[in-house]
Amino acid sequence: MPFHIGVSPKQIGKYVLLPGDPGRVEKIAEYIKGCGGKLEKIGRDNWISNREFTTMTMKFNDTRVSIVSTGIGGSSTSIAMEELMQIGAHTMIRVGSTGSIQSYVQTGDVIITSGSVRLDGASKDLAPVEYPAVAHPIVLMALIDAAEKVSKGKDWTYHVGITASCDTFYQGQCRTDSFTGYIPKRLQSTIDEWNRLNVLNYEMETSTVLTLGNVFGARTGAVEGVIVSRLEKEMPEGAVIKDVEERAIEVAVVGLKNLIRWDKTKKIDLSIDNRYVPKNLECGKFLKKYKKKVEKKI
Ligand code: URA
Repeated sequence: MPFHIGVSPKQIGKYVLLPGDPGRVEKIAEYIKGCGGKLEKIGRDNWISNREFTTMTMKFNDTRVSIVSTGIGGSSTSIAMEELMQIGAHTMIRVGSTGSIQSYVQTGDVIITSGSVRLDGASKDLAPVEYPAVAHPIVLMALIDAAEKVSKGKDWTYHVGITASCDTFYQGQCRTDSFTGYIPKRLQSTIDEWNRLNVLNYEMETSTVLTLGNVFGARTGAVEGVIVSRLEKEMPEGAVIKDVEERAIEVAVVGLKNLIRWDKTKKIDLSIDNRYVPKNLECGKFLKKYKKKVEKKI
């Protein structure tokens, strides 16, 4: 059993949605249920929860899909992803919220990240900072196709582009309404610089998700709902959060359904040791031990 997430290979799907907030796991499960998904009973209460990691598992037809919260930031996200990979996950999509730093990306819109500026610390333990944090191209296509459908006729739109992922919500994202108002001088004008460099938004997990995806050989992507326009204000607007979260969830779930359908029609073998993982990857002891069992049971 992986040390932190506390779920066994039998209890998770290979397709995983990664919200940050444990409280969002059940909301996503409800949404999947509304799309014809069925809840799988894991744990005593239909979910397994340890620290910030809450897991629920659903079935779309014959494909098992899990929802696992990562907590806030790269450190806990890296733990969730590492342990999910150990028990067989191959496709992971982050679903979260974000602050826009471009005037044309408005509160209520949805962002699909194509690549992320690695301002986090966790991903640097895996690869040097020159290594790109980019979404898997098929996941990106699946999410764009989903967003196109979901946003049709709505009063919001979606954007595809670069995200900046920080370890701090306040200083790293140039917020002055913090406890002391202090932002180190070297960070003070970074919001202007990222804006000038066509970065769309600030958040706290995507660079870890995308870097680890490429390093581990998993397919990863990210969708974020815009809950604040940072060019106008610092704090998110409480009234919009629920609606915006639902939009991001809808795009992620429809995107995941796309992937499952595409994988089936193309009959791609996504098992852990195929071409999505470099052949020379040093698999952990855990994976070697459980690989056969996982393949048989899922
Ligand atoms: N999450 C962040 O990290 N920043 C924001 O502005 C909103 C959500």
